[in-house]
Amino acid sequence: MKTLPALKIPIFSLKKQHSSLQKGLEEAFQRVVKSGSFILGPEVESWEREFVEFLGAKHAVGVSNGSDALLLALQALGVGPGDEVIVPTYTFFASAGSVARLGARPVFVDSAPCCYNLNVPAVASAIGPKTKAIMAVHLFGQAADMDSLLKVAQKAGLPIVEDVAQSLGATVGQKYAGTIGAIGCFSFFPTKNLGALGEGGAVVTQDPQLAEKVRKLRVHGAKKKYFHEEVGGNFRLHELQAAFLRTKFPMLTDWLENRARNAEIYLSHFSQSKIARPAASECVCNENTAGTEPTDAKLLLPYRCHPGHTFNQFIVRIPGREKRDRIRESLQEKGVGTEVYYPRPLHVQDCFQDLGYRVGQFPWAEKFSRETLALPIYPELEAQEVEYVAREVEALV
Ligand SMILES: Cc1ncc(COP(=O)(O)O)c(C=O)c1O
Repeated sequence: MKTLPALKIPIFSLKKQHSSLQKGLEEAFQRVVKSGSFILGPEVESWEREFVEFLGAKHAVGVSNGSDALLLALQALGVGPGDEVIVPTYTFFASAGSVARLGARPVFVDSAPCCYNLNVPAVASAIGPKTKAIMAVHLFGQAADMDSLLKVAQKAGLPIVEDVAQSLGATVGQKYAGTIGAIGCFSFFPTKNLGALGEGGAVVTQDPQLAEKVRKLRVHGAKKKYFHEEVGGNFRLHELQAAFLRTKFPMLTDWLENRARNAEIYLSHFSQSKIARPAASECVCNENTAGTEPTDAKLLLPYRCHPGHTFNQFIVRIPGREKRDRIRESLQEKGVGTEVYYPRPLHVQDCFQDLGYRVGQFPWAEKFSRETLALPIYPELEAQEVEYVAREVEALV
């Protein structure tokens, strides 16, 4: 086989994506500049309508970013001091930070080794008299086990907040993630499935009262200017970012197809090698997951609990003492960018020390933090580049 010259492949790049959309993005910029309307104008309004139509939901509120979307969703649900919210410990900080920002307590639970999302029995056992909501984070592009989580939540009379920051376009049956629980929170950070040219987020719900509340909280809790019914904040989506998102949105389906194609290239490459195995042989989101780990592989591959995975990240696991970090360094030297999501679970973060959690309490999350590695998968990567990364990884593990 012909050997390729060494390639430089970053973990993520928007260069190609934006150069193909340059004209449209410049037109969007001009449109906003000429309109003279920069705050909550026609672009935000149109974007909210287009986004909600795509999702098949009722209400979308454009907000400043995904972290604030979570904060607003929780506040609209009435979460505050004295309340508890169940949150995975293995996730991005904002999933739990939003709870703490409202003076409530994040109650951490472990994740499942199939898809890295919430383990449902662990959620059920964490529910107590102070629980006010469950935060289902759809990590890495794949939805959590919403059917089982809904059953648990409904039995306890609790709302589910969906953190869809990483999984716009992921499906559960006929529904999009973010439209299944009480309220869905999206991020348009540039690396997400749909990225703004800066910050952006959205809150989506079927409930008109919740939507109304989020709209009010987005502008300092005032329905009528200067008359404040509640303490909200400035959580507005910028008019310019809404215009950019509208320009990029029609490409989302193609980008998701490219991500899926790149995932297939990795999966088919690694599945032909003796060193790799799927991280699970079946979905165990709703099982007691102690002791279900495959032990005969050097590389554990993503497992799809449902068909609707959007591969915002392509996550492999590399078992072995600090082996993941050594391989990551070697890949870096060869010009292949990778990322570690997340090197420290939330229950052992310094800022949550007072909550009284200890190392060893959530074994899967702690293991994922030591072993997971994200490989480049952005939509503009060429097939041969994905193959190249796969070969480099295979040679090192
Ligand atoms: C799971 C998850 N939740 C929330 C957020 C916060 O989104 P933002 O960066 O737009 O505030 C992110 C962003 O990285 C995320 O990955």
